[in-house]
Amino acid sequence: MCGIIGYTGDGRRQAAPILLRGLERLEYRGYDSAGLAIQTDRGLVTRKLAGRVGGLRSSVERLPLPGACGIAHTRWATHGAPTTCNAHPHVDCDERFALVHNGIIENADVLRAALERAGHTFRTETDTETLVHLIEDSPGDTLEVRVISALEHVVGTYGIAVMSADEPGKIVVARQGSPVLLGIGDDEYFVASDASAILEHTRSVVHLDDGDIAVLTTDGYHVIDRESHVQLREVNDVTWDLEAIELNGYAHFMQKEIAEQPETVRSTLRGRLMFEEGLARLNGLNLSPEDCAAIQHITIVGCGTSWHAGLVGRHIIEALAQIPVSVEYASEYRYRRQVTRPGTLVVAISQSGETADTLEAMRAARAAGSRVVGLVNVVGSTIAREADGGIYLHAGPEIGVASTKAFTSQIVALALLGLYLSSHHGLPLAERQELARRLSQLPGLVARTLELEPQVRVLAEHFAQAPNALYLGRGVNFPVALEGALKLKEISYIHAEGYPAAEMKHGPIALIDANMPVVFVAPADEVYSKVVSNMQEVRARGGRIIAITPEGNGDLGTLADHQLRIPATAPLLSSILSVIPLQLLAYHVAVLRGCDVDRPRNLAKSVTVE
Ligand code: G6P
Repeated sequence: MCGIIGYTGDGRRQAAPILLRGLERLEYRGYDSAGLAIQTDRGLVTRKLAGRVGGLRSSVERLPLPGACGIAHTRWATHGAPTTCNAHPHVDCDERFALVHNGIIENADVLRAALERAGHTFRTETDTETLVHLIEDSPGDTLEVRVISALEHVVGTYGIAVMSADEPGKIVVARQGSPVLLGIGDDEYFVASDASAILEHTRSVVHLDDGDIAVLTTDGYHVIDRESHVQLREVNDVTWDLEAIELNGYAHFMQKEIAEQPETVRSTLRGRLMFEEGLARLNGLNLSPEDCAAIQHITIVGCGTSWHAGLVGRHIIEALAQIPVSVEYASEYRYRRQVTRPGTLVVAISQSGETADTLEAMRAARAAGSRVVGLVNVVGSTIAREADGGIYLHAGPEIGVASTKAFTSQIVALALLGLYLSSHHGLPLAERQELARRLSQLPGLVARTLELEPQVRVLAEHFAQAPNALYLGRGVNFPVALEGALKLKEISYIHAEGYPAAEMKHGPIALIDANMPVVFVAPADEVYSKVVSNMQEVRARGGRIIAITPEGNGDLGTLADHQLRIPATAPLLSSILSVIPLQLLAYHVAVLRGCDVDRPRNLAKSVTVE
């Protein structure tokens, strides 16, 4: 949801190329317009354009903006259409201040009316513009004092970077509810929405907390609170390599991330399985044996694909640990009255660790007295830092807007959590040892599942023009049906629905005809024969069936038009494999339809607004 970047250096390097490269890295956060502001000899100069960062790059290459300090933004529109005028940076009446913002100013209308009455002239429809006029209106000898004073009036969420024409080389940053970090280089300093934007310049980052104000100059940086007291913030090292955020020969990040799954699943498992004891080593959870034994109920919260992973996790944890699990949309959970029973563990699942609803659901759960753990991919993200403990996925940066490798790693992490809790809740040792063994086989099985890609590519040609698609599964594979449908609709814009297979008879069956592809996920478990019956019902109505089923299962060739055979594994873990052909199917259909796979329309990778 919007990407921001800022740079200030000692003059050895120009700001604009660094900002543009950073924007390209951040483009997955929003891509409807882009802009930058540079401190030049002529004061602050802004350049902005509707559309992708590429357009802005061409403009700056044609007409350079020289200067060693600047801020830039790539937008996912909330208030105001995605036009050039509404693009960031925004400036005040006299163009002495320039500002970029990620978040939402909730009292923007009230502030705007008051500022207009006081004589300020607004140029855009955005909520952000109020901030820059507020700063102009605020007292203070320095930019940071003005920013602190302006923010006293603001209700909402923000990560902002601001410059003043009167203070060359200075960028002031503020954070409240939207991610922002600092990058520390040699005589140069950065601010960015995430580390990918600055990784080619520095690995040293400082994560800011809500309420922090940071002041960057060419001589250094410091972090203060709203009373201007200096705050000490740790400098952390980014552990992943630049290669992780490059395409490395793949056509799209989604394709690369699907292909990375043998390695990412291995990373999530690394060092965590205790084969003899049939246990998982999860020290970061911060749950003592007594804490584990006291857990009576688990609530999983998440959004989008992370919510689907939670639905799979419910099956796994209930089976392994015999603890009842409920799975909630974070956006719904956070606004419901919290009826917390003693012994409730809340698990917040989020790839980015920044999704606003998941973060707020977690805070609401904590306020209601629950212990909260996070299943998060991005190290140092807000959910990871605020949770009482957690499990990092270690899947590396996920850039493609449609989540793939995070999903499989989330399920693996949930299986590890189930295993961790199982010994405290009576699962026999032999079963725990068997599950640990099955988990350790997954990277190899994922690699074998990926060998289906040529078959899936051919299949995609049959279905690329379908207007609708139905995905059906049962039990632990019902969430896979939901995820398969989500992948297809997100990136190919084909309308797709996921349903529990038996529910088909309560509605979707009315839609089935020869034009309706129906994808069945039919693993070798206790509901296999029921899924086969559902397939017969579709067949009888002329529907076109694609069946995903494990090797060694019965041959579905007479029922299905297309059959994709995945390797066999423990039924409880089957979703980690069965989702892979569905990711590939969505990818190839989208490519055939000429869609922008990594930047689907209207979507953003990290939804940091409600
Ligand atoms: C957005 C993304 C999805 C993601 C969801 C939750 O909708 O496009 O891919 O699953 O947010 O994000 P999170 O980072 O919390 O897992």
